Amino acid sequence: MKKTTLIILLILLIGSNTIVIVSAGEEIVSTVLNIDLDKKGALISPLLYGAFLEDINHTADGGLYAEMVRNRSFEFLRRYTGWQRVYDRNTAKIEVEDKLSLNENNTHYIKLSIDDEAGELELRNYGYGGMVIEKDKGYRFSVYARCEDSFDGFLRVILENEEGKRCGEAKIEGLTAEWQQYSTIIKAGETSTEARLVVMVAGTGSVCLDMISLFPIDTWKGRENGLRKDLVEVLAEMKPAFIRFPGGCIVEGNSLVNAYRWKDTIGDPAVRKGNPNLWGYYQSYGLGFYDYFLLCGDLGAEPVPIVNAGISCQVRGPQFVPLDELDEWVQDALDLIEYANGPADSFWGAKRAASGHPEPFNLKYLGIGNENWGREYYARFEVFQQEIRKKYPEIKLIIGAGVAYEGPDHRAAWNQAESIGADIFDEHMYCPPQWFYDNVERYDSYDRGKMDIFVGEYAAHGEGNSNNLEAALAEAAFMTGLERNSDLVTMSAYAPLYNKVGSSQWTPDLIWFNNTDVYGTPGYYVQQIFSQNQGDIVIPSELLINSDNQEGNRALYCVTGYDYQSGDIIIKMVNKSGEEQPVKIDIRGGAGISGRGRAIILSSDNLRDENSFAHPRKVAPVIEELSGLVLPFNYVFKGYSVTILRLNR
Ligand code: AHR
Repeated sequence: MKKTTLIILLILLIGSNTIVIVSAGEEIVSTVLNIDLDKKGALISPLLYGAFLEDINHTADGGLYAEMVRNRSFEFLRRYTGWQRVYDRNTAKIEVEDKLSLNENNTHYIKLSIDDEAGELELRNYGYGGMVIEKDKGYRFSVYARCEDSFDGFLRVILENEEGKRCGEAKIEGLTAEWQQYSTIIKAGETSTEARLVVMVAGTGSVCLDMISLFPIDTWKGRENGLRKDLVEVLAEMKPAFIRFPGGCIVEGNSLVNAYRWKDTIGDPAVRKGNPNLWGYYQSYGLGFYDYFLLCGDLGAEPVPIVNAGISCQVRGPQFVPLDELDEWVQDALDLIEYANGPADSFWGAKRAASGHPEPFNLKYLGIGNENWGREYYARFEVFQQEIRKKYPEIKLIIGAGVAYEGPDHRAAWNQAESIGADIFDEHMYCPPQWFYDNVERYDSYDRGKMDIFVGEYAAHGEGNSNNLEAALAEAAFMTGLERNSDLVTMSAYAPLYNKVGSSQWTPDLIWFNNTDVYGTPGYYVQQIFSQNQGDIVIPSELLINSDNQEGNRALYCVTGYDYQSGDIIIKMVNKSGEEQPVKIDIRGGAGISGRGRAIILSSDNLRDENSFAHPRKVAPVIEELSGLVLPFNYVFKGYSVTILRLNR
């Protein structure tokens, strides 16, 4: 820290906004932050910091969705994925069939046949890399079953640990020739992280099974078709103002054949029509649109669904629904709005009500397409827009900017979107950390009054695409620019959100998990502390920077705001450099400060520092209480840090 005592005030102007200031009669702190409470900047959009939830990296199946059985319905393209068949081929047979299906969406099931009294057979499922069971906790087993060939026996359902020791079991009997669902609760007698589910058949004849399912009782909110509690909790702590779902590229599909169709994802999980998704694995849709809406409600987040615009992923080689066949896709969007908002006696509203939610979900935003562009997209978007506006003029429509975030293609996308009259323009950027620093002022010069901006996906991709402190600092600096321009940038979200270690298609990601643990990355904590300390209005401020201090590089990035409810002045400061940065903070106007406050600091010594399962909070916020502050006061921002100062008034 550089300190000097001088009696004179010296201001040197170097370049356009670089000023050296030496203050009178006190310690010299050459960087000054002047906040003017008499001025008002942008109103900060209440939706500014949200989340983007896509089933990539096994976010849903094998992750958030608490189903423990992998390939419960034998619909995976490799039918036996997840299953081990243990039987004597001389006396028994276990095979996937589709002759007398459970329903038209769930056509495959497994048939187990024994023709000898002494025969024995077992089906084993290892879940997603071993099931996790906890001593004394309950697990809900359910199955659809029917029997053939005068089956006279029963099923035994067993939880086994990695050594094959039985940790809990239940018996299911009374099977009939018709498909029926059976369920039972099994209490685990011990803890194991490598457990398996075993279904044994005893008796002669044949048994057909489908939707073989096991859930912990202890899910998020205790729901039966529920979500993994710890993974939702970490999202809840981020306090997302909205959730954009279900993608991403999976909305588009590799081709229109596996595009995401929301109607396939609602109702009884047994009738949901799963899909081999674009990220290369089968999606059960157990976490479907109803569940997404519920989750939004639980977290107080605005739901922001995205529907396919009649175009499959353009990056992978697009398929276009001909314009004269687009009706079905447009109708899907209209029906989605009715599903979310319609009265419980409307056709689609009744389906929502039947699932347990007669009240509307109060949908306000809808995205048409993801990363789409070009005249084919705009032509289709206009059809959607026209039909939706006719029936639901209150719904704000989001148009994609394509994959270009700058340059002529981006400009063309903006112009097109503007001429179509879309409400919100969705831009995505995955760029090196330096790009985010260089673009802190990006939105200062955007046209106002045309469309709102939704920075729907962004992430700093540095060396090794790791979620380290370097990436987090760059994102935080960029976010100061989003907040300062929140009259225009009304929504933003990091992408992607989750990564299941070992099952990943994309890094970096905000939250990492395995079957037992979860941790937030430094970038996660940036999102969390920005969202938890958002404020209501930007207060214009001036950061007067000493160039010596910066060694020619800018180190500090800042946005200042005010929170009406608490009366706090909120300073968000990013120090990109490894050096401490002393700043003299002065506040003009208003009724001064109380002298008390709080500093929330995210920092570490090394830009390469990351969190891990072993050290989940290596880079995590710490809170320091402040007192005795008298204006102006000096505050030293740590090297490599994001600091949020909340000054009480
Ligand atoms: O976030 C990962 C992917 O990046 C999204 O699915 C897509 O929209 C973007 O290309």
